Amino acid sequence: MAFDFINDKLAQQQSQSRYRQRVCIQQSNIDSTHTEPLIIIDGKSYINFSSNDYLGLNNHADINKAMQEGVDKFGLSGSSSNLVTGFHYAHQVLEETICQWLNKPKCLLFSSGFSANMALFQALGQNSASSFFLDKLSHASMLDGAFSSKAIVKRFAHNDIKQLATLLAKSDSANKLIASEGVFSMDGDQAKLLDLSTLAQAHDAWLYVDDAHSIGVIGEQGQGSSSFIETDISMATFGKAIATSGAFLACDNTMHDYLINFARHYIYSTAISPALAWATVKSIELIKAQQWRRDKIIELSDLLTHLLDPSINLIRSQSSIQAIIIGEEKQALKVSEQMKDAGFWLSAIRPPTVAVGSSRLRVTICSNHNANNIKELADNLNKVLAG
Ligand SMILES: Cc1ncc(COP(=O)(O)O)c(C=O)c1O
Repeated sequence: MAFDFINDKLAQQQSQSRYRQRVCIQQSNIDSTHTEPLIIIDGKSYINFSSNDYLGLNNHADINKAMQEGVDKFGLSGSSSNLVTGFHYAHQVLEETICQWLNKPKCLLFSSGFSANMALFQALGQNSASSFFLDKLSHASMLDGAFSSKAIVKRFAHNDIKQLATLLAKSDSANKLIASEGVFSMDGDQAKLLDLSTLAQAHDAWLYVDDAHSIGVIGEQGQGSSSFIETDISMATFGKAIATSGAFLACDNTMHDYLINFARHYIYSTAISPALAWATVKSIELIKAQQWRRDKIIELSDLLTHLLDPSINLIRSQSSIQAIIIGEEKQALKVSEQMKDAGFWLSAIRPPTVAVGSSRLRVTICSNHNANNIKELADNLNKVLAG
């Protein structure tokens, strides 16, 4: 039978407790005061600790209003690719807003972070004169982009600056690019940005940072890595703390022109919704102005660390992501189910998303959680994991 492997692969996922399924959220952010991230699944309500809405901005009245304004002014659809008639005034304003926010000359919008990463690596990896140096824990879209290009790809152990220095020293490539996430998606820890920047300068390499999990959350005014270092190219998705959808690449003038001319994901794809772009401008305004949202994440994360039993293997971080390492897939699923019974939605993250033996609960602390949510979460985790 054709494509026999499909059934085999699915059976293998099942047998390894790695089978993935979706759950349908019937309603979310049902609390109109925005003081608790509630979701309803199969008629039952849960406190959501698995969302990437780090700043609690999803469903914010001002962003919703801007979305409606955007629909009225430009329509919901871009209706064309950027280079035909898809590029609207709303996109231009959003690009300018991001450039000013991150202090970068130029910016381009993409329909997703996945496609922005694919675009970037494919556009820079035209031939084997380019070499990419990626942190081992880089996101799937960075790896897929890099490996689908014609560049030489090297991976260094997570945050291992010494190994990266050795790889760079050995390389005689004319075009070197160091690539890392700013905050790592599954551990929540930060890249060693200053070291990466110093190495890039010493080896005449470019530095690329994917700020999917740091934008909005890290740095003054939430600029992510750009608060600490100057990157050559920065990327972030709008789908997490910014609470809309799409992504950007921020870079210099020449790179901008090059991407417009050669990035296939940019050229051959419909422009993002102009209404969404308009809403995203509003979201960024709120993110810049409302430092209390970032302070709250730190405050609640400190509270969780303080309340959790010390025997629990928590990777403490300065971001929203606080990972609790469980180990085996089955055990992680079991703990996740027990927490669901107690009213907390905490997805189990398993291989291949994380390394074998490091299945975990990826707890995300958001600005719209409250201290009581954290206390109840900690009580229940202590019962389940240390009781
Ligand atoms: C580090 C990282 N980069 C890129 C992406 C992709 O972004 P998007 O969800 O907009 O495709 C994600 C999201 O899952 C991510 O975690």
